[in-house]
Amino acid sequence: MLEKDIKKVLYSNEEIVKRSEELGKQITEDYTGKNVLTVALLRGAVPFLAELIKHIDLDIQYDFMDVSSYDGTNSSGDIKIIKDLDTSVKGLDILLVEDIVDTGRTLLAVKQLLMNKGASSVRIVTLLDKPSRRVVDVQADYIGFTVANEFVVGFGMDFNQHYRALPYIGVLKDEC
Ligand code: IMP
Ligand code: MG
Repeated sequence: MLEKDIKKVLYSNEEIVKRSEELGKQITEDYTGKNVLTVALLRGAVPFLAELIKHIDLDIQYDFMDVSSYDGTNSSGDIKIIKDLDTSVKGLDILLVEDIVDTGRTLLAVKQLLMNKGASSVRIVTLLDKPSRRVVDVQADYIGFTVANEFVVGFGMDFNQHYRALPYIGVLKDEC
């Protein structure tokens, strides 16, 4: 039903699962012996979080944050917290989970916030990276796929809250 609006599939569900497996394995190696809390940004990162944690062989905790940028601002630190964490990050190794890093403003601000709250470390894992759009100096530590400057939907990513439930990542037809 949503299929009809998709111009092309960029990454199939099988490819996303396979890549999540690889990232999960790497994260397991890197975080063995640490107290890991994954912090997923609502709402887009939820499907990726759900896939990724199946492949992390550690007793991780997870929590969620919802943030938005203030309209009309260009500064990196200016975000509004819609939903804050329920967990204290003090002394924890945080793995921020994001659907896509675009300008990078959101992640930079959240990363700084978590460091200020006393996290031991903060790393970023993102399903997609769109480096051509970056305006602040922030880089993900684990990247699923690097994409060109195209608007994508599916696997959590939306256009006006639609298409999040697609099991793959695709590009919308121009008329949508
Ligand atoms: P930024 O990196 O702070 O500019 O914001 C990243 C957020 O913008 C992501 O978490 C997405 O919610 C949204 N976003 C950026 N590019 C896309 C896209 O191509 N499709 C859907 N959402 C996008
Ligand atoms: Mg997002």
